Amino acid sequence: MDIRPFSPDEVDDLRAFVELTNASEASVAPWARTVTLREAAGRYRHGWDGEPATPYLAVLDGEVVAAGTVSTSERDNLHLAWLGVDVRPDLRRRGLGSEVLARLEADARALGRTSLGLGCWDVPGLEDFALAHGYERRSTDVNRRQLLPEVDPTVVDALHDDALLDAADYELVRRRGRTPEAELDALAVMTAAINDAPTGDLDIEDEVFDADRVRAYEHAHEQRGIDLYRVVARLRRTGELAGQTVVGVDRERPHLGDQHDTSVVAAHRGHRLGTLLKTDMLRWLRGAEPQLAEIDTWNAESNGFMIGVNEQLGYRVMGRSMDLQKSV
Ligand SMILES: CC(C)(COP(=O)(O)OP(=O)(O)OC[C@H]1O[C@@H](n2cnc3c(N)ncnc32)[C@H](O)[C@@H]1OP(=O)(O)O)[C@@H](O)C(=O)NCCC(=O)NCCS
Repeated sequence: MDIRPFSPDEVDDLRAFVELTNASEASVAPWARTVTLREAAGRYRHGWDGEPATPYLAVLDGEVVAAGTVSTSERDNLHLAWLGVDVRPDLRRRGLGSEVLARLEADARALGRTSLGLGCWDVPGLEDFALAHGYERRSTDVNRRQLLPEVDPTVVDALHDDALLDAADYELVRRRGRTPEAELDALAVMTAAINDAPTGDLDIEDEVFDADRVRAYEHAHEQRGIDLYRVVARLRRTGELAGQTVVGVDRERPHLGDQHDTSVVAAHRGHRLGTLLKTDMLRWLRGAEPQLAEIDTWNAESNGFMIGVNEQLGYRVMGRSMDLQKSV
């Protein structure tokens, strides 16, 4: 089998990758969204915040039979590489997945990485593959989806008004697109509150955020054609940033939204800011993106606080996934 990394500028390779990974995903998680060619190009050119994963194709007898990814960061977690393996659904249990994984592992080790991670849906067989290669389950996440036409605006408004009673010391600022340069440092400090989200038993370090990284995140999403809506809570008295929530809306498929970070800085918890931020976002999107039909979100299964907020807002569980890890 010929296993090789490719550039997202190689359109035929990218198309084959997208077709294969969409078919693979549909075979195990039919509720998961498909990825378009344009979206994949953006993802592998720009990543989340300027550090895109490297995509791989595996070709056997002239046919694309499997795909892979290697994802690393130079900002933090220098010990770690996240890997992805997808085998064409009709060609499983023939050792192809193992061969691709071995290649990705070797490439990750050549990059100096000593800890490897795999993520998969919690459906029969997938964890077995990872376990067979020495990985251990370290955390469980839940994918929830909010169907906006089913969300009662009066419920959102009532939750918002109720949360306001506990949050009178805070004001909300709505921002679409780029954050002004002068505010990037403060925003980066607040963004680091996401490190308090539960990560199970994963051997990972806190992520490091600075103005450059926030700028890179906003730039990457702009390049990918994803509009970022950000609501920030600010302490009125000092202007200190207390929490935020961000939703991305892809211009190519503007009925689909993705929940990015929602976090409240430790010193500001207990004021219903999580609910306040998320309800304000919904009220904003109702007017700004009336075609938006669904928002997907991911939380660690153990994140009771965030899940409580989400369930009040009509999110439903679509599937569970897990992260597995091994040291090499
Ligand atoms: C997971 C996946 C990559 C495995 O690919 P594959 O080519 O079928 O894997 P292999 O044939 O190399 O399997 C190696 C071993 O993993 C285990 N395994 C793989 N699939 C399994 C299944 N469905 N049930 C139980 N064990 C399984 C077995 O121990 C297997 O060895 P065996 O066939 O000798 O018993 C493939 O099912 C896939 O593409 N799934 C969807 C994408 C995904 O979730 N990827 C991440 C996985 S962590």
